[in-house]
Amino acid sequence: MSATRPAAVVVLAAGEGTRMKSTTPKVLHAISGRSLVGHVVAASRELDPEHLVVVVGHAREQVAGHLGEIDPAALTAVQHEQNGTGHAVRMGLEALTDKGTAVDGTVVVVCGDTPLLTGETLRRLAAAHGADGNAVTVLTAEVPDSTGYGRIVRDPADGTVTAIVEHKDASEAQRAISEINSGVFAFDGPLLVKALSRITTDNSQGEEYLTDVLGILREAGHRVGAAVAADHREILGINNRVQLAEARRLLNERLLHRAMMAGVTVVDPASTWLDTTVTFERDAIVHPGTQLHGSTHLAEGAEVGPHCTLTDTSVGEGATVLNSVANGAVIGAGATVGPFAYLRPGTRLGERAKAGTYVEMKNAVIGEGTKVPHLSYVGDATIGEFTNIGAASVFVNYDGEAKHHTTVGSHCKTGSDNMFVAPVTVGDGAYTAAGSVITKDVPPGALAVARGQQRNIEGWVARKRPGSAAAQAAQNASQEPVTGQ
Ligand code: UD1
Ligand code: CA
Repeated sequence: MSATRPAAVVVLAAGEGTRMKSTTPKVLHAISGRSLVGHVVAASRELDPEHLVVVVGHAREQVAGHLGEIDPAALTAVQHEQNGTGHAVRMGLEALTDKGTAVDGTVVVVCGDTPLLTGETLRRLAAAHGADGNAVTVLTAEVPDSTGYGRIVRDPADGTVTAIVEHKDASEAQRAISEINSGVFAFDGPLLVKALSRITTDNSQGEEYLTDVLGILREAGHRVGAAVAADHREILGINNRVQLAEARRLLNERLLHRAMMAGVTVVDPASTWLDTTVTFERDAIVHPGTQLHGSTHLAEGAEVGPHCTLTDTSVGEGATVLNSVANGAVIGAGATVGPFAYLRPGTRLGERAKAGTYVEMKNAVIGEGTKVPHLSYVGDATIGEFTNIGAASVFVNYDGEAKHHTTVGSHCKTGSDNMFVAPVTVGDGAYTAAGSVITKDVPPGALAVARGQQRNIEGWVARKRPGSAAAQAAQNASQEPVTGQ
């Protein structure tokens, strides 16, 4: 066990977040592919705490349900009424004690609405707390505008923190202080429990302030310390949608910076959006207007964009994806996708395969070198290697009740405008004629022709549309001398 491993992290997420003006609880709003509380929980997990407790209150079933999905090991504690941050921490610690856990180590407290906070900063706070032997260490930051935050009041003589004063309770002189409380703390567990039992609601909001614990501990003769965050933007708390957008932009910049430093070319960072879970290999190139979500991975030299939205999609080495949308697809090395392709879940494009312009695929396994170049729908299909599917073909997979599968072999050439009415199989090396509706299996090497025979009715226009422009054009054509004579 590391010296800085906390006994518990308590995440405060019971507030309603009224200023979001939303039916979704504040901490469930998402940026960069994770909920706000999801970011905080992920950063907290980097401390490897023995227990992680999330205090829920407003919309608690929804928030607890979400936590069960993203972090099943997290405990939830209920704060029925939002009586303040101190009360919330008390509820969190009581949930642990109810489970028979004595909290005798470091307790780290974080807020559920600070998605930019990093595990690195939490580790530094915990390390400073341990090294200095403090009863409490508060993470502070110097901010350009401290309005609304709790101010850090320091002793003019020795610079130690004497108190945190909430904005609403602060004097003019205190409001001028630019060092603020981030809402993140490391506490000595037993001392925290004792101090929490002594805080009052004697303040302008009539709440139990967690911040009052600092003054209580200091007066009892304990060491109160502070760690100043290297970057004040990390502690940005989200209260409204303007701040939500700001945090999204900052987090995206961080993710792009990391990708670029690892060897990814991002042509236009301002129009490129990444989820935290996206991964890259070097020399991947991302063109403007591109959004990469979920478990999307770009292999070495893969080129994506402009204007692509890829979700849970893996793009192979040197593959290119242009103006396309993909969800749950695997794109092989050297394959080409788009412009204007839509790859849906279960699409697996083989090496150097092609899903071209206006092509939609779903649950389709496409072999190496096989091309579906234009205007086609390939659903529930397996296609072998080096086959060419003619333009404007449809894999007719749905009979109105169930989906059926089509198999096309290797080295086939299917004509344009084919309908493959599933279930049906086209054998290796077979050809099909343009305009065919393939309802029966085609043996290997056969040519299937499944369309009406053409019949020309001579002179029909002259008889049925006399005097029309068409009739005149036909007559002119019949009188024109044959060229080349
Ligand atoms: C709090 C701090 C302030 C700090 C600021 C940083 C206190 C008294 N004030 O102010 O010093 O500068 O954060 O962003 O601690 N919560 C609960 N239950 C409650 C009240 C709050 O779970 O009863 C949760 C909220 O959901 C939120 C967090 O605690 O995640 C902070 O609460 P909030 O009301 O936003 O506090 P601030 O007024 O911003
Ligand atoms: Ca806040």
